[in-house]
Amino acid sequence: MAVICLASASGSPGVTTTAVGLAFCWPRPVLLVEADPTGGSGVLAGFLKGTATYDGGLVEIALSPLSAADALREVVRPLSPHVSLVAGTRTHGQAAALRDVWESLAPALVDLEASGQDVIVDAGRLGLAGSPTPLLESADSTLLLTRTSLPSISAARSWAETIRQPGTGWRHPGLLLIGEGQPYRDTEVSKVLGMPMVADLPDDPVSAAVYYRGAPPPRRFETGSYVRNLRAAAQAIQAHVARGRFALVDEVAR
Ligand SMILES: Nc1ncnc2c1ncn2[C@@H]1O[C@H](COP(=O)(O)OP(=O)(O)OP(=O)(O)O)[C@@H](O)[C@H]1O
Ligand SMILES: [Mg+2]
Repeated sequence: MAVICLASASGSPGVTTTAVGLAFCWPRPVLLVEADPTGGSGVLAGFLKGTATYDGGLVEIALSPLSAADALREVVRPLSPHVSLVAGTRTHGQAAALRDVWESLAPALVDLEASGQDVIVDAGRLGLAGSPTPLLESADSTLLLTRTSLPSISAARSWAETIRQPGTGWRHPGLLLIGEGQPYRDTEVSKVLGMPMVADLPDDPVSAAVYYRGAPPPRRFETGSYVRNLRAAAQAIQAHVARGRFALVDEVAR
């Protein structure tokens, strides 16, 4: 059980789509948290096609007199029997109100482990005002998503350098690549960025649209390569988290 953050350096490589897709392919109950400070809930407007009204999310947690753990319970909405959602802010202007919520939310999310729930956080683009830095730093793993084009890798590179600095706080960073081999391969990207490759997903706009904007699934969606890769990515992320925890125990024991 773990808290996993997904973030990007530039462009829109597919953080929100991948967070939703991973949640629906996750082998255990999972809470999806929309922590992207850009606002406008990509999941409510996208995957849910605007069919569900905003009736509470991160801002309500920030404004609540309750503890973060209790306030969190009030705003969680089910998307399926195994997937629930905490909606993000409605506008970018609300992000400032979240400044103090991350610190208290981080331990509340970690505590969900006791109820058998993992957490996937859509942290959006790095470096924005209102970014959920405490979540990025307290997650069991924070994954940088990037495409394999030169501009994407170039933008990811400066963040990778920052992430690699001792004391910057990401506990167990890794890469999640979209469009492996188009043109650069896993090993090349991992080497250039100096970060471990955790998983990759195919560049498949038709399948991705299912989780991005609630498009009807194409034929053989469930058995196709996009969903198979999402399931494999879920396994690889869990293995990455387990390695990180093992390394931590090892470090403490020494
Ligand atoms: N694996 C994929 N293959 C092809 N297209 C994808 C894939 N994943 C996402 N996309 C597409 O990329 C576009 C951007 O996706 P998404 O909004 O999830 O990116 P993002 O990184 O969250 O962007 P932002 O930073 O703007 O929130 C969408 O059109 C989506 O369908
Ligand atoms: Mg997004």
